Amino acid sequence: MGFVLAAAGSAVGLGNIWKFPYITGVNGGGAFVLIYLVCIALVGLPVMAAEILLGRASQKSPVGAFRALGGGRWIVVGWLGVVCGFVILSYYSVVAGWALHYTWLSVTGQIVGLGPEGVGPVFNALFESNSLNLFWHVVFMILTIAVILGGVGRGIERWARILMPTLFGLMLILLANSFTMDGFAQGFDFVFGFHTENLTRAGVLEALGHAFFTLSLGMGAMLTYGSYLRKNDDIVSASVAISALDTALALTASLALFPIIFTFGMEPGAGPGLVFVSIPIALSQMAGGSFFSAVFFFLLVFAALTSAVSLLEVATSYLIDEKGWSRRKAALTAGGVIVVAGIPSALSGGTALFGSTFAATIGQGRNWFDTFDYLASNWLLPLGGLGIALFTAWRLDDAIRHRAFLEGTNLAIFYKVWLLLLKFVVPFGISLIFLHAIGVV
Ligand code: TRP
Repeated sequence: MGFVLAAAGSAVGLGNIWKFPYITGVNGGGAFVLIYLVCIALVGLPVMAAEILLGRASQKSPVGAFRALGGGRWIVVGWLGVVCGFVILSYYSVVAGWALHYTWLSVTGQIVGLGPEGVGPVFNALFESNSLNLFWHVVFMILTIAVILGGVGRGIERWARILMPTLFGLMLILLANSFTMDGFAQGFDFVFGFHTENLTRAGVLEALGHAFFTLSLGMGAMLTYGSYLRKNDDIVSASVAISALDTALALTASLALFPIIFTFGMEPGAGPGLVFVSIPIALSQMAGGSFFSAVFFFLLVFAALTSAVSLLEVATSYLIDEKGWSRRKAALTAGGVIVVAGIPSALSGGTALFGSTFAATIGQGRNWFDTFDYLASNWLLPLGGLGIALFTAWRLDDAIRHRAFLEGTNLAIFYKVWLLLLKFVVPFGISLIFLHAIGVV
């Protein structure tokens, strides 16, 4: 139970409520959602079971796990994960900082009641303010480091037991509210209607990347959590439960948001500001809007915090296991590096300080923030996932693998299917999407 909760805490985060709706909007809805769901079921789920299994079988964090299980050169996959954790958390923390800022605005009554015309400028002002972005980024990183130092087990797990269901409950209230809006039918059709005409190569790549991002896969976060798992815990049903919960939350968030977007004639492809603009508008229509707004953004911060903790824990446990550092030294160093690495992302809302030329070379006019997200989610995570799948399916000793899979589960019949997926479907699918993205197929 503690494990499922911690893993679900890692999976459920900004990816579900901020990123999924916004990239669904940018990619035109329905067809993107369908591809995303296929990626979750056929790629995400088996890779999640593989990651947890590698962690439990080795009782180590990523780099040590590959070494212990006879990895040789596969250790590179572990290193890739550590690097990827730094990259993701550096901008993740900036967005979590926006949620902190919105919590503050809600508590002080500065956001609800502004109406559709007033809310947009509030987000733009935040987006373009270097000082606000920097300040909240640092505050969020301090919170994350504090949790890592306090030990993940005690405080935060108890809170997660209460706050995560509350977040889900609040999303359902927002969904019920959206249901009464004029734009509900249009919003529903946008999310579930099959609009292939809007789908691009980049969109397909993004759907795969997001399947990894939202389930916290491909960089050893689930592997690290798996190393805290006991022998009598069931890997298979835990993986299914985590994925189902995560997907349910993302879909609920989208179904709650898009009717608001359409009702107020806003642009579904507006980008990263989507949730920060639509939620305050919807809440200002509801009784007790200020209160709900404060609760919503506070819960969003909390969801982001349990995810950020898992991102920082990978680097921290690497430094502890491999370099023999104390937890304190490891967490402060890794956290400090991320604070610095996040500065360009925090500043890129305004004038892209050092970003402009680099960003322009890498992606079509992306700033630092987008560039980090693009590289990490769309390329590094699927690449890491590919490594994990190939290692588990083709390299890991079958005796070890089979025993590890069977321990604690009564779903042993899925072993063959799982292995088949890891051996062929996952590598084939990921390669195909990579080739498609660079225009080969
Ligand atoms: N899954 C989290 C979210 O959806 C983000 C996250 C936490 C993550 N840990 C991760 C993403 C590890 C990739 C890898 O917000």
